[in-house]
Amino acid sequence: MVLVTGTSTGFGRVIAAGLAADGYRVFGTTRADAGPADAGVTRVVLDVTRDDSVAQALAVVLEAAGRIDAVVNNAGMGIAGAIEDTTVVEAQAQFDTNFFGLHRVCRAVLPHLRARGAGHIINMSSLAGQVPLPFQGFYSASKFAIEAYSESLRMELRAHGVAVSMVEPGDFATGFTANRRMTAASGPGSPYHEACRGAIERMARDELANRDLSPVLGVVRRILRTSRPALRYPCATFVQRAFVAVRPFLPQPLAEFAIRDTYGLRS
Ligand SMILES: NC(=O)c1ccc[n+]([C@@H]2O[C@H](COP(=O)([O-])OP(=O)(O)OC[C@H]3O[C@@H](n4cnc5c(N)ncnc54)[C@H](OP(=O)(O)O)[C@@H]3O)[C@@H](O)[C@H]2O)c1
Repeated sequence: MVLVTGTSTGFGRVIAAGLAADGYRVFGTTRADAGPADAGVTRVVLDVTRDDSVAQALAVVLEAAGRIDAVVNNAGMGIAGAIEDTTVVEAQAQFDTNFFGLHRVCRAVLPHLRARGAGHIINMSSLAGQVPLPFQGFYSASKFAIEAYSESLRMELRAHGVAVSMVEPGDFATGFTANRRMTAASGPGSPYHEACRGAIERMARDELANRDLSPVLGVVRRILRTSRPALRYPCATFVQRAFVAVRPFLPQPLAEFAIRDTYGLRS
């Protein structure tokens, strides 16, 4: 039985439907209880930012399935804008969904996985969890936090038979682009307005150009079929993966230039 969070659109929807087609029993969460679920996917209402919602969803799943074998912590969103233009409340909202939301779900499922001495936790990170992006500073920070968290959790759970892995997608066309929120201060009055707009437009273009989400499903399938999966599964273009691999060995100014240049920050 696999629990996938955030299955109304994007990766979550493709992962849930794909695993159901493979024969897994799949519970897919959405915040709204609207519309029919995809074939083979049992819909569960879940808002990862609310403790009561997580507890209620887990109770529903355990009542129906009696066990949990794997969790794909996929739910997430992006708040974009210059760091100076981001209030603490906006930054907290970013972390509450992407990081604390994932932690809420992990805390709820871990007693069940540990008791069985088996299972997989698959956390949706991002290449932005390896290479921070300008004007997605808090999004990148939330994914860097997931990277550290997942590595620590993996070490803690090894003796309990539970595997922890991360998927690190590059740019993909999902609901993420349209759902990306700009911070309130990101408008024309911001000293970062033009630079931020240009960078986010470039990111959106790259995302919308890549409509095939199947590589991410493929990686999740591989992880679930392995009893000792790796920690990280990058899922991106060759150039992006190569940059992540060589970046620690590049002089910092060169690495920074490459990222700034990509997003039109030439000054
Ligand atoms: N697309 C990319 O290029 C890309 C790259 C790297 C990593 N990622 C990561 O991939 C994951 C999935 O995103 P996506 O690209 O597939 O975007 P998406 O199409 O916008 O899907 C995001 C999903 O997360 C759910 N969600 C958002 N806030 C939630 C909350 N508070 N509680 C429960 N569910 C919530 C959404 O459900 P609702 O419909 O209820 O809002 C939606 O189903 C995210 O963690 C994202 O950071 C995406």
